[in-house]
Amino acid sequence: MCGIVGYIGKRNALPIVIEALKRLEYRGYDSSGTALINDGKLAVYKKQGKIIELERSLPEPSKCAGNMAIAHTRWATHGEATEINAHPHLDCSGELAIVHNGIIENYQLLKEQLVKLGHKFVSQTDTEIVVHLIEQFRKSEASLADAVREAMKRVEGTYGLVVISQNDPDQLIAVRKGSPIVIGIGDQEHFIASDVSAIVIHTKRVIYLSDNELCIVREDSYEVSNLDKKPVEHTVSEVDWDISAIEKGEFKHFMLKEIFEQPITIGNAFRGRINELIGTSRLGGLNQPSSELRKIKQIHLIACGTSYHAGLIGKYIIEDMARIPVQVEYASEYRYRNPIIPDDTLVFVISQSGETADTLAALREAKAKGATVLGITNVVGSSIARESNGGTYIHAGSEIGVASTKAFTSQVTILTLLAILLGRMRSLSTVQGMDYIKELERIPGKVEEILAMNDKIRSIAESIKDSTNALYLGRGVNFPVALEGALKLKEISYIHAEGYPSAEMKHGPIALIDESMPVVAIATSDPLYDKVYSNLQEVRARKARLITIATQGDTRLAAISEHTIFIPDTLNNLQPLLAVIPLQLLAYHVADLRGLDVDQPRNLAKSVTVE
Ligand code: AGP
Repeated sequence: MCGIVGYIGKRNALPIVIEALKRLEYRGYDSSGTALINDGKLAVYKKQGKIIELERSLPEPSKCAGNMAIAHTRWATHGEATEINAHPHLDCSGELAIVHNGIIENYQLLKEQLVKLGHKFVSQTDTEIVVHLIEQFRKSEASLADAVREAMKRVEGTYGLVVISQNDPDQLIAVRKGSPIVIGIGDQEHFIASDVSAIVIHTKRVIYLSDNELCIVREDSYEVSNLDKKPVEHTVSEVDWDISAIEKGEFKHFMLKEIFEQPITIGNAFRGRINELIGTSRLGGLNQPSSELRKIKQIHLIACGTSYHAGLIGKYIIEDMARIPVQVEYASEYRYRNPIIPDDTLVFVISQSGETADTLAALREAKAKGATVLGITNVVGSSIARESNGGTYIHAGSEIGVASTKAFTSQVTILTLLAILLGRMRSLSTVQGMDYIKELERIPGKVEEILAMNDKIRSIAESIKDSTNALYLGRGVNFPVALEGALKLKEISYIHAEGYPSAEMKHGPIALIDESMPVVAIATSDPLYDKVYSNLQEVRARKARLITIATQGDTRLAAISEHTIFIPDTLNNLQPLLAVIPLQLLAYHVADLRGLDVDQPRNLAKSVTVE
């Protein structure tokens, strides 16, 4: 949510920060801006709309050759997406500028105090108060860093913030609480970003700031301390992936690339974590001896959006395979409802980005209640990865498309490994465990088979692309897949879509069905197949346009469907890993055929770091 970058070194800063900003555009894209020191003066450029608009408005690099700059791409929270509200924001003198990711909660109160002191505000943002607060403290404090420290002590809320000042032209100041900041270490140059993907092209050596830390970043050095000026040592981390992981390559969109990566990413999630001989799995980051894991009586899975849907699948498969009750909850609800967490409960937070504000707050709430909280995350070094008591990385690689695809199947793979591990400690036999492991190993190949139907799925998408509504149905472990299919369609194609348990449909949504309504139903061969088939007959009788996801060879279902996508057979608990792939492709093609911006859908941002 909002991307921020900074550069200080010997090179021309402007092209570097603009290029870096483009890699963060998935975090927000309603306006953008940059500030740099050019000929000793602070120059600021802002534009409403995407970064390309800002880029077009910039002077030639030769006319703007400063070697320190900050930049920002915005996802609006306070104040509309206008040029005035775009960052950077300036103090009264126009000599100091900041970019900010997060929310300042007590901004009204601070604004009133600053107005009384004579400060003039031009935007409707919460951010603008921070730059004026720093300006105010700059009058009494010995250094820019001290002024920032004092200002941040007065601010309530979350921030990842970078400060530039024409009066301190040898340094940028970065400070963090609740919103990520990474410092990239180069040769006689340093980078600041809210996400390592922005700077990995320049350096793989990074440090991740922790909350309430401030970093003075100079061309040839960086100094980290807390808000009380106590120095903090950080180990330098080495980023273990390179730029090709965040380029589209031959694909038209990141989302399509990420859908096609799934045979590899699912494999990466289970590789090294399975033991075929005794039919079990190991998840190193669980940090719990087997004797403790055997005592678990309940599991809470907490997440938002697509990660929540992965959690719902986790409930079905953990309860079935390990016979442990699982409660799945939206993080935004869990954090405020004073959850009951009995002893012997293991709490998992699931988050691709590891930065989702509600999930992070739910993690803190569960920890405050004394629970052991484990993270299932993708982004290494993210807040959730660092604050949880342990956990597992899904190893899906950078996910850039705002619509999550490969992270979902990797999360489900990890939850499957968890179900096998806990199941084997309880009622699951060696042979059953071995069956799951062997079948899991076949999943990447089966996903390849489904991806080979891409053209067919595009032609189905063509036939429904002008719909205004769609209903997704699934039952048992495939019900959350229906929810996920509906979410994918609505977030990128703007078609209203709902996911429902197949049998629940007759209690209300059936009223919506007519001959114009596409009904996408997952009806793979499983113990409930006959019941789902009957539900779909009811749909057909109301003349809906039935699109079914069926197991290969199911001619019975094909006979009542307008279109059928056949997927390979697998064990019931592994069905979601296959059934979701055609739904991802269907949503992608519908959105693309409607001419929409698939990777950056309106109003959304990749990681929601505000409440
Ligand atoms: C999915 O396509 C979304 N754009 C969104 O629902 C996302 O899954 C949600 O915001 C949670 O994100 P996280 O996994 O990074 O915590």
